[in-house]
Amino acid sequence: MQTVFRGRHFITLRDYTKEEIDTMLDVSLDLKRKFAMGVKTPYLDYKTIFLMFFEQSTRTRNSMEAGIAQLGGHANYLDTSNMQIAHGESAKDTAVILSRFGHGIGVRNCFWEIGNKYIREMAENSSVPIFNLQCDLYHPFQALADLMTMKEKVQDVRRKKVSIIWAYATSHKKPISVPLSQALLFPRYGMDVCLAYPKGWELPDWVIEEARRNAEENGGTFTITHDEEEAYRDADFVIPKNWGSWVTNQSDAVVDDALEAQKSWKCTEAKMKLAKPNVMYLHALPADRGNEVEDSVIDGPHSIVYDAAENRLHTAKAVMTLLMNGK
Ligand code: CP
Repeated sequence: MQTVFRGRHFITLRDYTKEEIDTMLDVSLDLKRKFAMGVKTPYLDYKTIFLMFFEQSTRTRNSMEAGIAQLGGHANYLDTSNMQIAHGESAKDTAVILSRFGHGIGVRNCFWEIGNKYIREMAENSSVPIFNLQCDLYHPFQALADLMTMKEKVQDVRRKKVSIIWAYATSHKKPISVPLSQALLFPRYGMDVCLAYPKGWELPDWVIEEARRNAEENGGTFTITHDEEEAYRDADFVIPKNWGSWVTNQSDAVVDDALEAQKSWKCTEAKMKLAKPNVMYLHALPADRGNEVEDSVIDGPHSIVYDAAENRLHTAKAVMTLLMNGK
């Protein structure tokens, strides 16, 4: 078990070995058990963590805030529109000051070609761990919780088919960070990963190359299809979710002719029937009900969305504990 985490940043799971990710999952399970039993876990006693949000959040904000309270620390939520950032204060100055005041800083900044650079600039100037609460490229807490949930459901995820499927949505133009993080992480665990999308919603080339390499090195496969039914066929897990075409179309416009032509990319009961009989449906949430997925699927017996959402709490607590309190 790899246990050396103290003081490191959590920007992408690419920065961590599989052995280190296994430790994160192990600690997540331990904290989950203790939470269920009411065992106190004051691992962040007297510690202050700042949570900076450039965008809205339900799960990420509250898993961090609740998790910090359950670990005995104090979470300081910061809406960046009320910070001096709104008047142009730099990432460097913000990071230096907040890291002198506390023990950790979480940041969500999903602006395309800005978010990850912003978080990295904070990391370069922070004396305390920086936690990526989602950027334009990565959502490591989400991918970790998804992996934990799949492992809980089937124990051995090797050679299980997991399909990451683009879905039609109109709620807002979403980052590519969830499918990108999943496409990189799941092949490291020997899964048969199928990435499905209509042409125009590509992930960056380097992601596909790295995902293929991860699959080759770990005994799984990584395939791409533009045939939605192929993705559902014989799948053990399906993750139909919208992502914006940020790579090829950097406009903020949510609805356009290209999107409207892909309305059929919806998770339906009929498509779920193509998968294995005990297929499980995942979604990072919030889901665009009626567009991305039929209510009868997300509310049905194959859905494990709430279990995955709950695991956001346990994984967040584990990562904070290890990085702020470890060896
Ligand atoms: N899955 C996720 O990150 O949810 P929020 O946007 O509500 O934080």
